[in-house]
Amino acid sequence: MIQPPKPPSRPNKVSLWQYMKLFRQDILSAQPARLYRAWMAEFRTPFFRSYMVNQPELVKKVLKTRPDDFPKSDRIGEGLRPLLGNSVFLTNGDTWKRQRRIIDPAFEGGRVRETFGAMWDAAEAAAHRLDAVAGQTVEIESETSHAAADVIFRTLFSIPIEHAVARDVFEEFRIYQRSQPILNIAAFVPLPRWMPRLFRRDTRASAARIRALITQLTQTRMAEIDAGTAPADLATKIMTTTDPETGDRFDTDEMVDQVAIFFLAGHETSASALAWALYLMAQFPDWQDRLAAEAQAMQDCDFAVMSKLRLSRDVFRETLRLYPPVPMMVRETTCPETFRERAVPKRSQVVLSPWHLHRHERLWDRPDDFDPDRWQTENGKQCGRDAYIPFSEGARVCPGAGFAMIEGPLLLSRILRDFRISYEEDMPPVPVAHLTVRSKSGIRLKIVRR
Ligand code: HEM
Repeated sequence: MIQPPKPPSRPNKVSLWQYMKLFRQDILSAQPARLYRAWMAEFRTPFFRSYMVNQPELVKKVLKTRPDDFPKSDRIGEGLRPLLGNSVFLTNGDTWKRQRRIIDPAFEGGRVRETFGAMWDAAEAAAHRLDAVAGQTVEIESETSHAAADVIFRTLFSIPIEHAVARDVFEEFRIYQRSQPILNIAAFVPLPRWMPRLFRRDTRASAARIRALITQLTQTRMAEIDAGTAPADLATKIMTTTDPETGDRFDTDEMVDQVAIFFLAGHETSASALAWALYLMAQFPDWQDRLAAEAQAMQDCDFAVMSKLRLSRDVFRETLRLYPPVPMMVRETTCPETFRERAVPKRSQVVLSPWHLHRHERLWDRPDDFDPDRWQTENGKQCGRDAYIPFSEGARVCPGAGFAMIEGPLLLSRILRDFRISYEEDMPPVPVAHLTVRSKSGIRLKIVRR
């Protein structure tokens, strides 16, 4: 049976400088293979200590049981702050809690259902775009980015990606990402605090342009809300929700920060997952055929169709296991801790790695195999509870998880309903961690009408 691509691991022993060099290239291949078997690993360097926790009990302790004691490390935001300001992704403590109280209601189950029409329209539009290139080989990550950005604009602001401002934001984002390729390095290899943080000038300029565009959208929406003419979408919901504890709402500036993160967190991740899912379908044509058959149920825009896309959901879950778009997360200890009888000092970095947990050799049956049926097995169900965190878990769980689990299978099925896809390159794609897990040099798939 063919195995989905997994990046090579580094040798067990390397110097700090070698590690940093590898790390700059890619955090996935910079890690040793033993992390797929370890419950915990300690990285000691002259400047800092960091601990990767890979044991379900420890992951639960950090994310679920005592999240307040393990806030997000400040360093994670270093590369993102010019763009995201004070957004919910970067804040901690009371500010973060207040922001979640206002945001979360917009993503509750029933609400997400209300966005289904907008998602359906985006799926139709994605299928039309592919129709225009049918018979050709296309770089699928740029197609899925386009589709996922469309989903965000339609659900958040009721505008399609063709809208001038939406398109400008999308284009600017590409520039931003190119100017900011190694986003997370500071989180893992913290620079001394005295070292100046030099953002490249083009990164700052690009962030400023994106924020100006988002400000335009947000101000217009604020005016529409005041005039009583605002559409009932996610932006309106968030901007009209009052914090039950303080009674206040987001002002325009705060909303700009949040929109920036919705756009970033909501489209990069979904685009990554969908691209890998399509690649896997090209590699496993039996599954592709099963999903295409199941997708025949998709005729009209009706939320009930989601309950018929069970296989698609299992494939999407399996994709998120093998290629979690957010491969690692970082927290910081606020007091001395003891992990597996080892003392962990205050202000240590704690790294949680969906990437390694999802392929843990002591937990999963055949961890590197693509097997969507595993979710029906005892091992799959058990690991699904204990060792599967593509959306993180606990208080800081991704608010868009429910949304993404509709969007992903919906788009996947809609595409496979009409198109057969195949991978005809000599070499398999190599997963690397950019902002999310992407293929090192894109994924080219041949698209043919069914
Ligand atoms: C397949 C798609 C997605 C995946 C795998 C994903 C994954 C994640 C993960 C792992 C985190 C936690 C990061 C951390 O703690 O360091 C997160 C946070 C977040 N996600 Fe998602 N996400 C997805 C889609 C979305 C969508 C569609 C939205 C919004 C529309 C969204 C909005 C957010 C926000 C606002 C946060 C910050 C939450 C907080 O820190 O309190 N995500 N996501």
